Amino acid sequence: MKTVTISTLTKLKQAGEKFSCLTAYDATFASQISAAEIEVMLIGDSLGMVLQGHDSTLPVSVDDIVYHTQCVARGNNGSLIMADMPFMSNPSTEQMLVNAGKLMQAGAHMIKLEGEAWLAEGITELTRRGVPVCAHLGLTPQMVNQYGGYKVQGKTEAAAQAIIAASQELVDAGASIILLECVPSEVGRLVTEAVTVPVIGIGAGPHTDGQILVLQDMLGITMGRTARFVRNFMVDAQSIPEALKHYHQAVKDNSFPSEEHCF
Ligand code: KIV
Repeated sequence: MKTVTISTLTKLKQAGEKFSCLTAYDATFASQISAAEIEVMLIGDSLGMVLQGHDSTLPVSVDDIVYHTQCVARGNNGSLIMADMPFMSNPSTEQMLVNAGKLMQAGAHMIKLEGEAWLAEGITELTRRGVPVCAHLGLTPQMVNQYGGYKVQGKTEAAAQAIIAASQELVDAGASIILLECVPSEVGRLVTEAVTVPVIGIGAGPHTDGQILVLQDMLGITMGRTARFVRNFMVDAQSIPEALKHYHQAVKDNSFPSEEHCF
């Protein structure tokens, strides 16, 4: 596939074309994901749950993400590689810069940070030094203990407005992509319309510019309950490469997510 950059995604947004994203943690799956023309691969801290068997993403270290980013980068053939900054990897601006540098040197093209409007200063420092940033808003799983569970965010008018305002503020600070997790579809639509940069959704409805799922979830390999926003693409596929292509196609033609996957 032709190399995907942030400007590729921005042009797709401007043209009103959707793009697909998946998590990836190793070289073999990375090669299959790019062969399916999926535009973005995220080395997510979800690896703490799906690979390591923890019950949250909190135990994941920067070294874990570095290792899996190196693996993914070796198998990639053109997709944009985004690596997650794990829990407490940005306790200070200095520490954040050091850790983001490690992820970029491991093969990431950009990093993803969970938070709210307070991320603005850090995002400016990162982008100033050549580290593009995706700001992850809405349900940010690293806050699970603060929330008391994995709960849909932005359900009240005030909470929805706070997410929209934070998106705009973080784009002004330099964020190149916004990722929205588990918000009502209407909030997904409003954020996508409010910002000029691409918006990726997971459980954020059909209006975002891109969609992302955890790889194992969309292949139907789970250890327990699956979230409402997940669709198992293996159900109608003969092989993993076919399931990956079906996912990409379903995002492109906007048949995924459908009403049943939305809040
Ligand atoms: O860690 C992860 O995989 C993520 C996605 C669920 C967006 O943040």
